[in-house]
Amino acid sequence: MGNAAGGGAQVFITRKIPEPGLAVLREAGVSFAICQSREDDGVANSQLLEGVYGCRVLLPLLTEPIDREVMEINPKLMGIAQMAVGFDNIDLEVATELGIPVSNTPGVLTETTADLTWALLMAGARRVPQAHNYTVQGRYKIWGPNLFLGTDVGTGANGRQKTLGIVGFGRIGAAVAKRASGFDMRVLATDPYAREAIEASDLVEHAPLDEILPQADFLTLHVLLTEETHHLINEERLRKMKPNALLINTSRGPVVDEKALVRALTEGWIGGAALDVYEEEPEMAHGLAELENVVLLPHIASATAGTRGRMATMAAKNAIAFLNREKALNPVNPDVYGTDAYRRRIGSGG
Ligand code: GLV
Repeated sequence: MGNAAGGGAQVFITRKIPEPGLAVLREAGVSFAICQSREDDGVANSQLLEGVYGCRVLLPLLTEPIDREVMEINPKLMGIAQMAVGFDNIDLEVATELGIPVSNTPGVLTETTADLTWALLMAGARRVPQAHNYTVQGRYKIWGPNLFLGTDVGTGANGRQKTLGIVGFGRIGAAVAKRASGFDMRVLATDPYAREAIEASDLVEHAPLDEILPQADFLTLHVLLTEETHHLINEERLRKMKPNALLINTSRGPVVDEKALVRALTEGWIGGAALDVYEEEPEMAHGLAELENVVLLPHIASATAGTRGRMATMAAKNAIAFLNREKALNPVNPDVYGTDAYRRRIGSGG
């Protein structure tokens, strides 16, 4: 149960997850192998293949691409219990075709992610990282009437109400809207899959994305990464935004065309960006990190000890369900359970 590639353990965990999840596995008497225990190191594809080959359930993180090659290597693989709410690193179509159930960890990170979204919004509006750097670098000599002027978040002293645009009104988008209500903002939201929820909410008004863009002082993204949302915020849409607008992204990097974003920030099509995710994570588009009007974080939206513990626990419980041939608690491809491929797989050995 240590730093092995797989070694016949029931659950192959790609990188060390928080202790509460491991405790759940231990208490259930489930054997597990952790491939990578060092925080800064990833898992090589060869290690991933070897580990998946030797296990019954895979417990990956969003950092591992789970493609056909990985899934085909083990015909006895009973499930994939991802520790993340997003699952764009897993080829879901192939998983379903091969009869492999996949689960994620929704719900437990909603408030934590909405908090960080708000922290980014506030930090971007009030230039918090820039002012912090200035202070710790010993450059603060005298209070200045023009020092680090930002923008108001709620209704400013001029009485002008700010507009927040929310793209994606699932759990996290709705939790962000709840926070905005304390700031007296006008909140517009769009989500083709949650139109009814938007219309039923007292906190937001519905508007199509292209109508939100020219109105939003703050635009925040809360969509899953799919073919439909890849580069949803592209050059054309960035050009429709207000010149002082702040773009906030805690969803997935490829939802934004990052090269176009660098141009938008350099040429002043928008005012700033506050990002937790990147298109080619952990790489950033050339020039992004050098800009003055950005706040850049290393994908930490769900990073509180409590929430990461709950995510690990949820993933572990899903892994145990897979081992017991039960439905996942949080299935992302529930259609798989009706397939012959699933029945064959579950019936095979072990
Ligand atoms: C984090 O980005 C997650 O998907 O849980």
